[in-house]
Order: sequence, then C-alpha cells, then structure tokens
Amino acid sequence: MTTILSGIQPSGLLHLGNYFGAIRQHIALQEEAGEHFYFIADYHALTTQRNPQLMRELVWETAVTYLACGLDPAKAVLFRQSDVPEVTEIAWLLATVTGMGLLERAHSYKDKLANQIKPSVGLFTYPVLMAADILAYDSTLVPVGKDQVQHVEMTQDMAGYFNGAYGDVFQRPEMRLEETENMQKVPGLDGQKMSKSYGNDIWIFEEGKKLKKLCGRIVTDSRPPEEPKDPEGIFLFDLLALFLEPMELEQWKEKVRQGGEGAPGYGHLKMRLKDAMENYFAPARARRAEYLTHPEKVEEVLQAGAKKARQRAQQVRDRALRACGLR
Ligand code: ADP
Ligand code: TRP
Repeated sequence: MTTILSGIQPSGLLHLGNYFGAIRQHIALQEEAGEHFYFIADYHALTTQRNPQLMRELVWETAVTYLACGLDPAKAVLFRQSDVPEVTEIAWLLATVTGMGLLERAHSYKDKLANQIKPSVGLFTYPVLMAADILAYDSTLVPVGKDQVQHVEMTQDMAGYFNGAYGDVFQRPEMRLEETENMQKVPGLDGQKMSKSYGNDIWIFEEGKKLKKLCGRIVTDSRPPEEPKDPEGIFLFDLLALFLEPMELEQWKEKVRQGGEGAPGYGHLKMRLKDAMENYFAPARARRAEYLTHPEKVEEVLQAGAKKARQRAQQVRDRALRACGLR
C-alpha cells in the first residue's frame, strides 16, 4: 500500500509561488492510488510564529486554501499536526536514538544561524519532529521540494537508528523530489523568487483594486512600447505564462518582439495578467467565500481528518513503545 504524506507550514497567506510550486502538485497527488495524508504543520510553525491570533488565522487559511483549490476530503485526510499529539511522543522516542551530529549538520538550522536567528531547542530538533510526522503514519512516499530533501534523508536515518536498536518498527519512507519541472521559480514583483520573506508576493486570492495595484508594481524597464524587445528578458512574461494559453502567450510575445504601432505597453500586459489571474482563481475564490460563511465546515473536515490520522499514529506509537519496553 502506498501512503503519501505531505505537510505545509501555516506561515503566511499562500502566494503564486506556493501554488504553482507546491499546492497544485500536492492536490494532484490525491488522484494517485493509495492513501493520502496532508497536514498543516502548526507545531513546526511555533518555531517562528508567536502570535496566537495570527496562528489561528493562518492555520484556518491554509486549510481553506487547500479545500478551495480542490483537495477532496473523501480522497485525502486533511488535518492539523497538533491534533495528533502522538507525533510529539514519537519525536521523543526518535530523539533518544539520534546523535547530536546528525542535527548539527542540518542545512536549515545552519542557514538560520548564519542569518543571525537565535536558535531555540525547538528549531534545533525541528527535523526530529518532522521525522515523527512522516513515520507516525507508516508513510511510504513523501513528495518534497529541494529544501526538504535533507529532512527526509534524516528521517530515513532516524528510522534506521530506531529499527537498528529495537527491530522493525518504522517503515522507511522514500521521497519524491518535486521538480518545479521546466518551470523555473515563480518570480515575485521585483523579479527575484517570489517569497513571503521578500515581501514581493501575490496572494492567490487577491482581486480587484488591490490586485491591480500589485500588478502595477511588477518591475519593468522604461523602454517605450514601440521599441522591439526580446520577451525572454522580461519576467512579466513568466507570470503571464502561468495563466495564459500558449497560443495567446505567443501572440503577445510576438507583438513585443515586433514593436511598432500596435505593440502593447507593459501596463497593458500587467492588466492582462490581472484579469487572467482573477479568472484562473475565480472558482477557488468562490469556494473559499462559501467556507468563509460556513467556517464550521472547515473545522468538520479537520476534525474528521484528525480522527483518522490519530488512529494510525496511535497504532504506530504503541508499536514503538512496546518495542522499547515501555509497554
Ligand atoms: P516562502 O518562500 O514564501 O516562505 P515557503 O518556503 O514556505 O515559501 O514555501 C512553501 C512551498 O512553496 C515550498 O514547497 C516551496 O518550494 C514552494 N515555493 C515557494 N516559493 C516559490 C516560488 N517562488 N516558486 C516556486 N515554488 C515556490
Ligand atoms: N518542514 C516542511 C516545510 O517547511 C513542513 C513539514 C513538516 C513537512 N513536517 C513534514 C513536510 C513532513 C513533509 C513531511 O515545508
């Protein structure tokens, strides 16, 4: 049986980079044979987020975004990490067999130190909790982006240490690297990688005047519309490529290459982007609006998900406790 698991931190309103780089692929996975667990990593988010009100909002927004974008609770188990406290017990068991050296080598930890972030013990042991997330459901496959590869390798190591000490308890998970295939990173308003931390992001449900204003802020140069240009050097086209049919995209590019009288200015292309993006997310935006008027429906999904996830995690925890002589 294939058991696919993935987690996402509720660290902000989800933007176009998150959608095209992660959420869309996550949701597509539910069509594959096997079981599917998706969770909102709120325990993990505590390593960086200390505002309780914001935490509640972001957990809710993350859940609603997945549901609005098409996650089907009949196919996939959606839940909050903290609704399954067994993962923290499993994390403790893993911590007792894991050497300091393994965690000291974590890139994510070293990067945070290099960025002068004062580390908490929780930040240091972040990979142990992540390993517990994965092992708690007997996951066989974890789709991840490049930045999480090392964490899954560490999970494989920790499963190996525990099994080495106590026999076959944990299922060794495999990972699947989600290439953002032929698509490079989604650029932000300034042309750098779109990221919450750079403040150059566009929330997927942005609309109307605010979206218009954001699109207006996309950085372009001061060449006039008539001047023939190479569209490859204009990252506004990378954003348009996310939404337009290939034919339409090519037509715009050709007009820009030609220049002259009929060539569109950047302002024109930005407004095309705004309309296309609004249109693309319209069905999901409508579903989100429905959930906004019935927030209890989101809670119902999360509670039902938690129940299923907990059942599995309890079995795995009990197996682990027995193996090490605590039962
Ligand atoms: P942020 O950089 O905004 O903090 P995260 O690091 O939380 O985003 O990313 C969450 C997921 O979204 C990851 O799987 C990551 O690979 C994906 N992602 C984030 N930004 C982009 C982007 N600009 N292009 C493609 N994928 C992205
Ligand atoms: N660390 C992951 C991230 O920041 C989120 C996460 C937590 C996760 N636990 C997980 C992802 C387990 C996959 C499996 O993106």
